[in-house]
Amino acid sequence: MAGQIFQHFSQIDLVSLIGTSLLAWGVYFAGLVIYRLYFHPLAGFPGPKLAAATGWYEFYFQCWLEGQYIFETEKMVKKYGPIIRVNPEELFIHDPEFYNELYVTESTRRTNHYDNFAQGIGFDETRLRQYSGTDKIVRLDHAFTAYTGDIIGRMCLDTDDPSDKFLNKEDFSADWFWVMHMIKARSNIRKALGSDSMNDEHVESLFHHVANSDMPASEKSEERLTKEAQLLLGGGTVTSARVISCATFYILTLPDVAKRLSEELRQPMAQWPSHVPSWADLERLPFLQAVIKEALRVDFGVMTRLPRISPDVPLQYKQYTIPAGVPVGMSSYFMHTDPEIFPKPFDFIPERWLGSVNPLMNRNFVPFTRGSRTCLGSNLALAEISLVLAVLFRPNGPKLELFETDESDVRVAHDFGVPLPKLDTKGVRALIH
Ligand code: HEM
Repeated sequence: MAGQIFQHFSQIDLVSLIGTSLLAWGVYFAGLVIYRLYFHPLAGFPGPKLAAATGWYEFYFQCWLEGQYIFETEKMVKKYGPIIRVNPEELFIHDPEFYNELYVTESTRRTNHYDNFAQGIGFDETRLRQYSGTDKIVRLDHAFTAYTGDIIGRMCLDTDDPSDKFLNKEDFSADWFWVMHMIKARSNIRKALGSDSMNDEHVESLFHHVANSDMPASEKSEERLTKEAQLLLGGGTVTSARVISCATFYILTLPDVAKRLSEELRQPMAQWPSHVPSWADLERLPFLQAVIKEALRVDFGVMTRLPRISPDVPLQYKQYTIPAGVPVGMSSYFMHTDPEIFPKPFDFIPERWLGSVNPLMNRNFVPFTRGSRTCLGSNLALAEISLVLAVLFRPNGPKLELFETDESDVRVAHDFGVPLPKLDTKGVRALIH
């Protein structure tokens, strides 16, 4: 009997405990929503009430619908205007004239990141040449990722052992790519910090120099440098490789572009591979550079909004005063597809960058973003993209033909920080004749 009474009361307790908790949570949530909608410093900014009320709105588009929030943001801009509250804490602006005011250098004002979020590489000598005449199908996007990964690995971490190179691995280390990067980074940082490497003046990697610099020891810990190395390897590999894949796809699809490029490369690449043109040589080739710019434009670089915080002073956008400390982002996707500036914005037209170019095109061209947190590897990226395209599309280059690849394999459909095409793509594949 006593047991039954105890059970009865404990059930009541449990039910009332759950009820009270739910009620408390409901009251808290309702209070939070009311605060965010009516009393929050961003309460007066335009945008859907649901996005202002809860982060679940963004989560739904970004995670549930797989990288679609940028396209939802595009719809919001059409509906609410150029400035919108994209989640409870953050603003988004689409107004090309404001880009240089948001992404400024330290000399203008302090800006914080919002952190919620060659020669000798032997590209031509390795695998593509070996397959010549075999009609083998190659995943070019994997090859390009291996190429850019090898370059960064060598520059940052001194990974020069041929057996370490992704380009020399079966299928370019596709599946193991990221895992290997992580292992590579830590073991090479350990090497750079080791006394043998510190004393060896012939070692020439970025992290060897960091290890030898007079930075405080706390900033040179293995943990910290490994994280920095991973950032460089990640940031510097996929981005460049995607742009090379995109450019390659369009060059192989557009015979006039391929022909014009090949003609332009005839003289500078005549002595390849005994003479490797410098980046300065390749930078002077207007059509090659137009192709690269157009690939960077349609591929967006990093399309996701890149929020910046002005920690000290408010920002003024038209009639809106944005309080100090509020993250505000803009996006290359919006800048690069503005039809007023780039007619037929989703078409690949390198010729638009030739002749007398509308200065607003350069204003809107921001694949590396601007200001104090601009891409640190933009020159390296442009140099490696220039060289690989010159090697592939010179008059005596490898004979490539796209294999079961169409525009949907390169056209951006998802934004996961880096832009991605449809998720079931089999990549940019080509037959090597
Ligand atoms: C086509 C190729 C590339 C594109 C489109 C690109 C684009 C960008 C963009 C948009 C940012 C700013 C990200 C943000 O604000 O969160 C960035 C940052 C960065 N990029 Fe690149 N990047 C490319 C290649 C590279 C390469 C090859 C390196 C290699 C060394 C590199 C190193 C970095 C670093 C270290 C940062 C962080 C800068 C900072 O936070 O101060 N990037 N990149």
